Amino acid sequence: MIAASGGPAAGRLLVRGTGSVPRATATDTLRVLTRVLGPNIAQGVIARRPTVVRLAQRCQVDAGVVHETARLRRRYGRGPLRLRVPGRELALVLDAEDVHRVLDGTPDPFTPANAEKRAALGQFQPHGVLVSRGSERASRRRINEHALDTGHPVHGDAEAIVAAVHDEVGGLLARTDDLTWTAAQQAWRRAVRRVVLGEQARDDEVVHTLMDRLRGRANWSFLAPRDRRSRAALRDRLTIHVDRAGPGSLAARLRSTGSPSDAEGGIDVLDQIPQWLFAADPALMVAHRALALLAVDPAARDRARSEMTEVADHTAPLLPQVRAAVLESARLWPTTPLILRDTTEATTWPTGTVPAGAGLLVVTPYFHRDESREPTAHRFAPENWLSPDGRSLDETAHDHRPLVPFSEGPASCPGQDLVLLMTSTWIAAVLDRHEVEPRTAAPLDPSSLPASLSPFDLAFRLRSRS
Ligand code: HEM
Repeated sequence: MIAASGGPAAGRLLVRGTGSVPRATATDTLRVLTRVLGPNIAQGVIARRPTVVRLAQRCQVDAGVVHETARLRRRYGRGPLRLRVPGRELALVLDAEDVHRVLDGTPDPFTPANAEKRAALGQFQPHGVLVSRGSERASRRRINEHALDTGHPVHGDAEAIVAAVHDEVGGLLARTDDLTWTAAQQAWRRAVRRVVLGEQARDDEVVHTLMDRLRGRANWSFLAPRDRRSRAALRDRLTIHVDRAGPGSLAARLRSTGSPSDAEGGIDVLDQIPQWLFAADPALMVAHRALALLAVDPAARDRARSEMTEVADHTAPLLPQVRAAVLESARLWPTTPLILRDTTEATTWPTGTVPAGAGLLVVTPYFHRDESREPTAHRFAPENWLSPDGRSLDETAHDHRPLVPFSEGPASCPGQDLVLLMTSTWIAAVLDRHEVEPRTAAPLDPSSLPASLSPFDLAFRLRSRS
């Protein structure tokens, strides 16, 4: 039974004796669908749609996402909050402690291979680790961690990785002093193909064309029929590259774990690669925005530059200040704004139970940007990720507040270290030799940052520092 309470908590709904966690009213469910989930789905969950992302920036839709989620938290308490969606049990996770519980309790009883994700990613990686369960998940996670060298800030093949990024960013900056998204993306994707698939894949743009096509389909989840022809073409190309990839590439590491086309062993080595190619795009978004932050914060920029001088050749670039800027960029504008899990069994919470098979939604912008709960909500605060002396990254620096741009727990992003290595190398290569001037109508204010920021319109004028 749900009743409106009076007194000091007036306006808040209390749940008594139902045994189930609170359930939102039909009106509140509609508000969640239109103000929280709708804007995210419209912008493209698997491949961002630049036109809609631009519109989202103009309307600052993420402010609405945070505001609406915070309102529900005040109204219904800690949750999880069940929604009234016909045919699908869904609940919002509204409490910090519950975020940690869900992410740490992965894959059981909270599986990341949830129904919507399986439908979407089934377009191009039906056997990818993210949509796998049980023993298959365990073995696929293991080979991902092996290839991505998870847990090591400097990847075992860092020399080749750093060289590929340097080479491509160097070539780009020799051609232009106008760093736009489009120019950056072309160079970045070349570097990504070299790192993931090997040197011979540098100019194979068809790989990315096929990925873009399949990701575009995946945006429609259940609604789009499978594009089997494009997936087969992608697999053919990946097979050739994995076969030819030389040492230093992720594909070569992967090859060492088993036969690329061996789907029977339950691993399907080849099907792990699309996630890497796909997830490298958000990595550039995060790097491009981090550059925008550093461009408007002279103190942070100076700190970042001073550590670059210490490792001038960038061959072992820990660069904690730059990495912290990247992590801040990912906190301020998370590229996985909805973390999804399905319950594999009925679960009990302080407010009641959630049935088996329910979808749980963590709206990360709420935890990262709600000023009533997050002290650094709208400002650029690299210290969220740094030890007090600023000389190393420190995961405990944000005090267990759920700042989870790379998720956390057993299904957290195994590519995080690689992303930080590649993006910090990219940013250092730009900043080390250039003054970076934002070429935008309204430059960012690092003490009051917008809720939505399209990376597609960020551009920088570069001037040589020497
Ligand atoms: C800024 C860039 C990136 C961000 C913010 C990011 C974030 C995330 C997040 C939040 C998840 C968990 C998703 C979920 O639970 O639904 C995830 C999973 C994953 N990411 Fe990343 N990622 C990035 C780039 C990469 C890259 C470049 C790679 C590989 C080269 C990668 C590999 C993976 C894999 C394999 C998983 C699945 C892990 C599992 O299910 O056990 N990510 N990532």
